Amino acid sequence: MIKKYVYGNPIPTNAVVGEAENGEGAVQYLSELEMNGKLLFNYAMEADDIVYGLGEANRGLNKRGGIYRSFCSDEPNQTEDRQSLYGAHNFIVITGMISVGFFIDCASEVKFDIGYTSPNMLNIEPSCRDFTVYVIEGKSAYDIVRQFRELIGRSYIAPRWAFGYQQSRWSYMNEDEIREVVRIHRERGIPLDAVYMDIDYMDGYKDFTVSNERFPDFPQFVQEMRDQGVRLVPIIDAGVKIEEGYDIYEEGRQYQLFCKRADGSDFVAGVWPGRTHFPDFMNSNARMWFGSKYKVLIDSGIEGFWNDMNEPAMFYTEEGIAEAKEYLENFDFATNDPGKFFELRERMSGLSNRMKDYESFYHNMDGTIVRHDQVHNLYGANMTRAAAEGFEQFSPDKRILLFSRSSYIGSHRYGGIWTGDNQSWWSHLLLNIKMMPSLNMCGYLYTGADLGGFGCNCTRDLLLRWLAFGIFTPLMRNHAAAGTRRQEAYAFGDTEDFANIISIRYSLIPYLYSEYMKACLNNDMMFRPLAFEYPADNFARTVEDQLMVGESIMIAPVYEQNAVGRYVYLPEDMLLVIFKSSSVRKYQIMKKGMHFIPAAVNEVPVFVRRNKLLPLCRTSKCTDEMDTSMFEIIAFTDDNIEYLMYEDDGISKNYSDPDHYVSFAIKDVDGVLGAVSPKTIVKLSLF
Ligand code: GLC
Repeated sequence: MIKKYVYGNPIPTNAVVGEAENGEGAVQYLSELEMNGKLLFNYAMEADDIVYGLGEANRGLNKRGGIYRSFCSDEPNQTEDRQSLYGAHNFIVITGMISVGFFIDCASEVKFDIGYTSPNMLNIEPSCRDFTVYVIEGKSAYDIVRQFRELIGRSYIAPRWAFGYQQSRWSYMNEDEIREVVRIHRERGIPLDAVYMDIDYMDGYKDFTVSNERFPDFPQFVQEMRDQGVRLVPIIDAGVKIEEGYDIYEEGRQYQLFCKRADGSDFVAGVWPGRTHFPDFMNSNARMWFGSKYKVLIDSGIEGFWNDMNEPAMFYTEEGIAEAKEYLENFDFATNDPGKFFELRERMSGLSNRMKDYESFYHNMDGTIVRHDQVHNLYGANMTRAAAEGFEQFSPDKRILLFSRSSYIGSHRYGGIWTGDNQSWWSHLLLNIKMMPSLNMCGYLYTGADLGGFGCNCTRDLLLRWLAFGIFTPLMRNHAAAGTRRQEAYAFGDTEDFANIISIRYSLIPYLYSEYMKACLNNDMMFRPLAFEYPADNFARTVEDQLMVGESIMIAPVYEQNAVGRYVYLPEDMLLVIFKSSSVRKYQIMKKGMHFIPAAVNEVPVFVRRNKLLPLCRTSKCTDEMDTSMFEIIAFTDDNIEYLMYEDDGISKNYSDPDHYVSFAIKDVDGVLGAVSPKTIVKLSLF
């Protein structure tokens, strides 16, 4: 049951596509009060209530104890105290004696104080008075999530090749560097499906251009890579370079498609290319125009994109620099007040992404002029929409890979997201683990983090452990910043352990893709907290570092340096499979309860649930070469069991064809490992 309560005159966000009943009177469950001209909502939590949600947000799976400011931010230093990350996903579920969900559909900032100021008080503070509150009642947190997902519509579906391993690094400068990356992966037997092209492929960081000097025959190069089973995925940035004669700039200016200052001039911010204008993604003509531009790269053979810097991120504005200059001119360098130095430091480091700048430009929302800060959280989401609607025009039958850095719920229907810039920190591996179910709750299913960490220097063991988790995330991309230590899977000397771990991914793809597709098509979650599967198990409710992945398995990644394994809680008897590679595995039936599971840095423990099946195909060097005619089945059964696998060509869009489901059935076998083709069991052998 979903009710909606409309406050003021909300700016349409495009988040909700389903039906909700109009709520009458005061909003249910929340007490509303007015403070300093703002509306606040309070909810008194029980001591053991859990609060889930907020999608791409910091801290734990249970959000209690923190403050979260939903305001899309370029925030790579995700320390525990950071309140805003790249996405804004205002959906929460409180669950305990009763379960209730809230979605605050608001185009501008919303603050959630979840037991930070007062341990049992949840406080929601929208920054404006125009928003809609959706209240969702259900029998459990999981039920509420499913209803919410129905309300916001089906998630974007990525092509299957995007489940392959993907290599990225900001600073691959030219064709030869990319060739080299591919060559080494192939030579060392490290599977690979895509290489990313970061900003350096462009001519002067100009969107929709390719440097002639560094990629002299781009379509030919794209084909050369494609012949080796590798797709190239270029980045597209939000800012359009100001340069006379550059067609995108000229058109945007001529047709009034850029964001404007109060005086009607085009707003200017400094980003990668220097001075840029921001396309007005809140305007439907601008979206159509920008979306159509992706065609030039698609025509060169490109099949996927990542949209970046679309919070929008600004390094500086000229107004900001002028203010800083004036401040410096008046600064008393003779002062011995340390507070003044701190202020100086803050002023200088605060030149990027200033609130004042976000308050100084305007959108033309198809006739209505709106100041940016009022729709800030929708900007990146509408860039994703622009691209997706373009693809719909010129590639209606073929899926194009698309994911974005900034997002607002609603954009999950148009593309995936990655979790933005992180660091090569063990704590960010753990954050990645904890964030996956929250992202799924908010509709983001094609998602993942920069494996190995974007900033800082990665180590061999961190990359191995991160990959051992990343083999389960739909987006499995190793990405690093320019200037950091190399962290390709061959960068640490020996490559065997890396190749082995990535090879496990390739034998898991049919299962992962199937679980992903079923989750997309049924508004379900692929990554679930244990509590969603074992609601009656009080201990399972508290586990945050183990996840259910699809219907058959539980994972318990190792995320601490020098660990030789970890404690794992089994909510039921399970079959432990320790993968050393796709084909080398050890098995052990484990009893319900807490166990220490040894896991060396080159081993991946997977827990198969009782009476569930895990189908594995033979590993391959890329998805083009995947053979799904034969499977091995790992099962732990005391009953007749069946697994319904979703399998299609991975690229076309006729998702609802019933022929896409194949079934594996196993009868009366207690613990099997066999070579199996769908429907027929060819061979069974006990382990
Ligand atoms: C941003 C992106 C990052 C990219 C870099 C250069 O920081 O988040 O992924 O590598 O810009 O384009």
